[in-house]
Amino acid sequence: MSITLETKYLDGFVRDHEWNAIQPQVTAAHELLHSGKGPGNDFLGWVDLPVNYDKEEFARIQAAAARIQQDTDIFIAIGIGGSYLGARAAIEFLKSPNYNAKKKNTPDVYFAGNSISSTALSELLELCEGKRVSINVISKSGTTTEPAIAFRVFREYLEKTVGAEEAKTRIYVTTDKARGTLKALADREGYETVVVPDDVGGRFSVLTAVGLLPIAVAGCDIAALMAGAAKARQELDDPDMEKNPCYKYAAARNILYRKGRQVELMVSYEPCYTMMNEWWKQLYGESEGKDGKGLFPASVVFSTDLHSLGQFVQDGSNILMETVVLIDKAQKELTIKNDPENVDGLNFLTGRTMAEINEKAFEGTVLAHTDGGTPNLVLHVPSVCEEELGYLIYFFEKACAVSGYMLGVNPFDQPGVESYKKNMFALLGKPGYEAEKASLEKRLGR
Ligand code: PA5
Repeated sequence: MSITLETKYLDGFVRDHEWNAIQPQVTAAHELLHSGKGPGNDFLGWVDLPVNYDKEEFARIQAAAARIQQDTDIFIAIGIGGSYLGARAAIEFLKSPNYNAKKKNTPDVYFAGNSISSTALSELLELCEGKRVSINVISKSGTTTEPAIAFRVFREYLEKTVGAEEAKTRIYVTTDKARGTLKALADREGYETVVVPDDVGGRFSVLTAVGLLPIAVAGCDIAALMAGAAKARQELDDPDMEKNPCYKYAAARNILYRKGRQVELMVSYEPCYTMMNEWWKQLYGESEGKDGKGLFPASVVFSTDLHSLGQFVQDGSNILMETVVLIDKAQKELTIKNDPENVDGLNFLTGRTMAEINEKAFEGTVLAHTDGGTPNLVLHVPSVCEEELGYLIYFFEKACAVSGYMLGVNPFDQPGVESYKKNMFALLGKPGYEAEKASLEKRLGR
C-alpha cells in the first residue's frame, strides 16, 4: 500500500473500545457510498473515475497540452474553488511552488479568476505583455462570477493582442458537456472544449479535465497520476478499517470530533505541500461543514509555522487534532558541511542531511504536541511523484466521503456557498434581486 497511517500518537486520546465501537459506523458509511444510496448520490462519479474516465477525451487533453507547450509562454488557468485548487496544488507539489521561476521547456502557469482583486488581475495582464498567452477558463456551472470576470478581461486581451481568429485557438474551455452560457459561447466561437462530468462535484474534480489540462501543460505525467488513483481505488476498498488506512483516518477524525476536537490541523514539513493543504481544506470544509457540524479544516507548514502558530498548538485551547503528512523521501538532498570556525556552533550536524534534521524536527514536535494535549495522526507518503499524488488525492476524497456519511451530512452538496453570492448580486443590482438589495442596504446603513 502506497500511503500508510500511523496511529500510535493517538494513544491516550483514543482507546481500543472506541475504535471497536466505531467500526460498524465505518462499515455502514462504506456501504452507503458503494451502494449509491446515500445523500448526494448524483455526485459519485469520482469513485470509479480513475478507471472509467473518458479515454478519448484524455488523449485530447494530452494533445492540447502538447500543443500549448509548443505555442505558449504563459498559460492562464481561470477558475475558483474546485475549478482551481487541485490543479495548482498538483503543479506546486510535483514541480515546485517556484515552477514559474525555474528553467524549463514548458509554459509558465498562472491562476486567475480566484478572487475579485483588480490588483491581482492587472498584475497578471502586465506579466503577459510581449508573451505568447493561452487561457483555460474552467467553470462547471459556467456562471461563477470571479472566473467569468477574469475570462472577460483575458478574452478581450487576447482578441486585442493577437486578433479574434488567433484568440479562438488560444482559448480552451472546461465546462459542462451541454449546459451553461460558457458552453454556448464555446460552441459559437469554436473554442476547444473539454468536459466536467455531470456526476463529479467541483472539489472532487481534480482528476477530470478541470485539473488534468493545466497539470499536463506544466509537464506532469497525467497518465501516472490516474494510475496512482486507480491503485488507491483498488486498495482502499476494504470496509475493515484495520486493513484500510483511508477509513481509519475517517474514523479517527470522527472519534476525536465527538470528543470535543473542533479543528483538524493538516501539517506538512514541505513547502511544496502548501497548496495541497488548501485543496484539502476545500474538500473537507465544503463537504462536512454543514448542519451546524464538522471539524474546521486548517493547515500549517512546519517548521515555518512552529515559529508562529507552534505556541498555540503546544499550549493554547485544547480544540485541535493534527494530521501530519510526511514525505518519506526528500526530492533533493543537502548535506551540512563542516565549518572550521564553527561560529554558529552547528558542527555537531556535520555530515547530516537536511532531510534527517527535518525528520528530527517532526519527531520532536509530535512528542511535544502530544505531551501538550494534542492528538496526532501521521500519514506517510513514500515520495513526490505523480503516482503517489494520484493515490493521495483518491485517499483524501474517499476518506472525506466516508467521514461525511459518518458525520450524518451530505458530503456532496454546498448550500452555504450560495448565501454570499445572493447578497453580492443583490448589492450589485443584478436584475431580479431588487427586494433583497433594499433590505441589505438598510442593514448596511445606506
Ligand atoms: O466544490 C465546488 O463545487 C465549488 O468550489 C466550485 O468548484 C466553485 O464554486 C466553482 O464553481 P464552477 O466550476 O461552477 O465555476
